[in-house]
Amino acid sequence: MKKVKNIKLKPKFAGVLKVIGIVLCILLAIFLFYRKQINDLKKYGYSEKASNKILFTLKKDEVLKYGENKTLNAAFESEDYDENNIKNYVRIDYVEQKNLIKNINKLIKIGYNNSDINIILSHGTDESVTEFTKRDKVNYLEEFFSLDYAKLENYDRYEAYSDETGEDEIDTVIEVNLNLDKEDYTDSVLVSEFSTDMLVNKHRHLSEDFKPNDLVEASLDYASESDIYLSRLAYNAFKEMSDAASREGYGIVINSAYRSYQDQQDISDLYLRAYGQEYVDKYIAKPGYSEHQTGLAMDVGSRSVNIFANSKEYGWMLENAYKYGFILRYSKRDENLTGFRFEAWHYRYVGKEIAKYCHDHNDMSLEEYFVIFLDK
Ligand code: DAL
Ligand code: ZN
Repeated sequence: MKKVKNIKLKPKFAGVLKVIGIVLCILLAIFLFYRKQINDLKKYGYSEKASNKILFTLKKDEVLKYGENKTLNAAFESEDYDENNIKNYVRIDYVEQKNLIKNINKLIKIGYNNSDINIILSHGTDESVTEFTKRDKVNYLEEFFSLDYAKLENYDRYEAYSDETGEDEIDTVIEVNLNLDKEDYTDSVLVSEFSTDMLVNKHRHLSEDFKPNDLVEASLDYASESDIYLSRLAYNAFKEMSDAASREGYGIVINSAYRSYQDQQDISDLYLRAYGQEYVDKYIAKPGYSEHQTGLAMDVGSRSVNIFANSKEYGWMLENAYKYGFILRYSKRDENLTGFRFEAWHYRYVGKEIAKYCHDHNDMSLEEYFVIFLDK
């Protein structure tokens, strides 16, 4: 049998190993302790990056006292974190904006309190809030921005418009959001997507070649003459409505529906020659600005009486059109919002949901519905 050689370490070398062992143990303990601190914070929704900053700035206990807080997390993640503003961050609602923390710091510096800052952030975009931080403190934040749909970038226009018109805050916000503080047909918004809730008026136009792609010709059972086209969606709803009216003894037909840009030009020229500019301004939209070009609008008539407003069908439509997805588009009450004089005959297909909502809310105009629900 071979003898195994007994290896003996020199005492000095054994000592070094021991020290290394102890140091490694201490490092491991520190690392585990550090990971535990990070995990404590992560349990409250703080990211790895934020948790590291919280530990290195010795704010862990304070942060855990506040608990989960998305704005505080964003603050600790940000290069712009300012220790002096920590109590504000906690009370400001988080919004997804790139310069959130930088802008909060600036707004605090300008003199806004936490509630003002919540208002500002919730009514603006990253861009409009950043612009807003470049100006002095404003006076009427709460007045205009108690409404969800007030827009931060419109602040000056709200102030100027309400001074000029004396309108209250609600009307001011709605009207400025509709660009009614601008001249008709100037600086208008291009609407390019077809949808049953699209809004076309003197401040929102279609391109010359806009044409709905589901146009169908109305049959003479439903139209006063041939060659009347409209969106299939509107036509199907009209047939359902007209059939229901007919069962009750009312005769409703379509007199005009889809009109191309050129058709609108021709109509405008015709009425200009017959009735003059003032009439045209009140009743006929400029080409590109008529919702007849969407294929969703129609002028209806009664089978028995020439003047629709004097017919029993007019009354029936006022009562029932919403059930089929139609609204009276140019009411007497809302002439200033729609930009057109009252038209008893002009109906617009918007779908049953919106039509019912408008009906149930005091015949809300499509303009108001747009500002409140669609103009995001
Ligand atoms: N009569 C409506 C306003 C139009 O011309 O579109
Ligand atoms: Zn019309």
